[in-house]
Order: sequence, then C-alpha cells, then structure tokens
Amino acid sequence: MKFKTTPYHHDLLKDEDRLSAFFQAIGEYDGNIDLAYDLGCGSGILSYFLKDYFKEIIAVEINRKASECARDNLKAFDNIEVINRDVLQYDFAKKADLIVCEMLDTALIDEEEVPVLNHAKRFLKEDGEIIPQGIINMVELVNMQRDNIHWDEGAVYEEFSKPVVYSEFNFLDNINPEFETSFTLKSKRDGIINGLKITTFTKLNDNIIAGPSPMLNPPLLIPLKEKSVKVNDLINVNLKYIMGNGIESIQAQYY
Ligand SMILES: C[S@@+](CC[C@H](N)C(=O)[O-])C[C@H]1O[C@@H](n2cnc3c(N)ncnc32)[C@H](O)[C@@H]1O
Repeated sequence: MKFKTTPYHHDLLKDEDRLSAFFQAIGEYDGNIDLAYDLGCGSGILSYFLKDYFKEIIAVEINRKASECARDNLKAFDNIEVINRDVLQYDFAKKADLIVCEMLDTALIDEEEVPVLNHAKRFLKEDGEIIPQGIINMVELVNMQRDNIHWDEGAVYEEFSKPVVYSEFNFLDNINPEFETSFTLKSKRDGIINGLKITTFTKLNDNIIAGPSPMLNPPLLIPLKEKSVKVNDLINVNLKYIMGNGIESIQAQYY
C-alpha cells in the first residue's frame, strides 16, 4: 500500500528498523480487542498496523496536513477514525485497551511523549497497555567536535567511558517531566573530555527493545566544560532537563 505523507513523515516511513519494532509489538495482540488510541498518528502507519487487532482505533494528529494524509490513507478501513487535534487539549469519551504513542526522541527531551501520556493515561483502562512500554537511557563521556547540543547524525566524537544506564521509565507510571540526576563515569584513557553522549533504547513491550535508528532516538551529544583526564579517573556529572520542553532545557555540569 502506498502512503501519502508530508516530507517528515515520509522519512519516518523509510526507517524500517523503527517500523518493524512497532509492527512486531502490535502483532503480538490476539485480535478482536475493543479500542486503541494512536496518538500522533502522522501518516497513519501505526493505525494501519492496529486495524487487524482492534475493533475501533481513534488516531489523533496535531498537524493538519499529516492528519489529512492519514484520513486519506486509511479511508478504506471503517474501524479507524482520524481526528485533527492536539492530544493535550482532547478529552476522549471512552477508555482504551491500548495507547500507541510514538512521540519519541532521545531521552524524551525534545518531543511531547511525557506530557501527552500524562494526559492520555486518564483514558486508559486499568489493565490497559502502552506501546512503547518505556525507555532506557544510557550516558557516556566523549570528546566531541562541535560545542553545541546536537543529535549524532554522522557527528564526530571519541568515546571516553563505558556507557552506563542513568534512568529508566515505565510509561504506565506517572512521570515528572522535570528530570535531574547525578552519576559517576570512569575515564578509560588519558586525554580531553568535553561532552556527554546520551543513547536511548525503546522498550516496545516485555520482549522487544529497539536501539537508536535514524528517525528513532539518534544519540544526543551534550557539551561539558573541557577537562583533562587520566585513565580510571572518576568524573562526577549532574544532568537536568525538562522532558517535552526541548533541548534548550538541558543543563550538564561537573560537580
Ligand atoms: C514521531 S511522529 C510519529 C508519526 C507516526 N505515528 C509514525 O509512527 O510514523 C510524532 C507525531 O506526533 C504528532 N504530535 C506531536 N505532538 C502532538 C500532540 N500534542 N497532539 C497530537 N499529535 C502530536 C506530530 O505532529 C507527529 O506527526
């Protein structure tokens, strides 16, 4: 089937690793389940995957052009309704068995996954589920070339420590968007460090974890003050940001 899309949603469709992770997770349902919400449906691709397993799918998309594409792409399926609205301003009439929400980005800083789910979870049945189920964030020390916060799309950097997990979220829990943590990383060589690299893994469900791919959580590089280190030095870092408030909310410093 050929999907009409905007250029951004076309790039999302081209990321096969991203799509196959969602396809597999949705395909684990038995079928004939009452209701699913597809939040931020974009071109409608995830509703298209959901249509064989759920009796009713309500797909919500804030972008008018994308919602028109989704409506057109999905018009042959009478169990899907596409609504052009901001989920944050939308109160659903019924409780769903499943919420699918792909508003993911590295560490959930730049997109609205956390505020949208905090709002939409009120419309999830008590035994309802969310895809993805959550995320795992890892951090490592690097020497990077650029001095601004940027995603790793071909960025040049040298790794200076092993990656460690610094946070995990289960989307069924209530999540405070204001995030702060401190961690210690061990330098694995002599040299100069000047940044952090954050990598996010997406837990689609208990069985499927997706690593970063071009359109799903590419690694994020964050500058730190330049510091000379020796092998096995322990480096203490404080990191804070507001999930859903953009990369400008990131603050990272040694302590
Ligand atoms: C990463 S895209 C995913 C699109 C599609 N689900 C897919 O997997 O290809 C996230 C989508 O969420 C939409 N979005 C972001 N915030 C939203 C909000 N508050 N309400 C509704 N849609 C939103 C964006 O416009 C975008 O289309």
